[in-house]
Amino acid sequence: MEVKIAKNAGFCFGVKRAMQMASDELDDTSTKVYSLGPLIHNKQAVSKYEEKGLKVVEEIENIPSNERVIIRSHGVGENIYNEAENKSVKIVDTTCPFVKKIHKIVNDFYKKGYKIIIIGNKTHPEVVGINGWCHNSAIVIKTIEEIDSIEFDKNAKYCVVSQTTVDIDKYEEIISKLKNILNDATMKNTICSATKERQLSAKNLAKEVDCMIVIGGKHSSNTQKLVNICKDLTNTFAIETKDELNKDELKNYNSVGITAGASTPDWIISEVIEFLESI
Ligand code: F3S
Repeated sequence: MEVKIAKNAGFCFGVKRAMQMASDELDDTSTKVYSLGPLIHNKQAVSKYEEKGLKVVEEIENIPSNERVIIRSHGVGENIYNEAENKSVKIVDTTCPFVKKIHKIVNDFYKKGYKIIIIGNKTHPEVVGINGWCHNSAIVIKTIEEIDSIEFDKNAKYCVVSQTTVDIDKYEEIISKLKNILNDATMKNTICSATKERQLSAKNLAKEVDCMIVIGGKHSSNTQKLVNICKDLTNTFAIETKDELNKDELKNYNSVGITAGASTPDWIISEVIEFLESI
């Protein structure tokens, strides 16, 4: 059986970097390490980090002074940095540099008197974090339909940024509508290409092989998107770990492609590859 792996599969650059930084911190046991919310949405990975000593909390108040807190790859607002400093909690900042760049844009324009618009999902932690760099004053737009019910200030200057995972077509649709409404707006396309590249690699591989295995959380929306893309092109198995694979069923295929969602660690992918190679 030939096993092929999609060019871009699993962790993106930012998540890979964050998970490595978190792992390095846990190697140092001098003080306790906390994270504000689960590091990623993958229960196998989170429990592995918890076994190494990571404590997951929702609020910074729950962290004692002089311990360490990991800021996740999708970042947090300015207030968290201030609260940590006030409490003498040491920050381990794993915010993705692409998200950091958005924080800086928002903060710079906000200080210059611009009103901020974020294209994205209001409740997503990344958007909550971005909004925290303009004192939570941003207008958050998720769909083009929402624009009609927003009262814009015709005399104000606006700066528009986007959540990194927004769909480009959706972004462009919203931007072109905003351009017709706002008199003075600076548009910053801050979408990260990692998600799109992962989907494109999965699509290309699915065209070449007899079946695809998509590894990732059952509740991970980006994994489910990969499953749907592959299903349209070939036989597809969606799994969380190798234990869900059936040797007898897979024996019927000459070539198998593998891809994985954004929160699937390399070691889970490697286990699947090893399993396939043993057939
Ligand atoms: Fe990943 Fe950073 Fe892009 S976390 S999706 S590389 S913004």
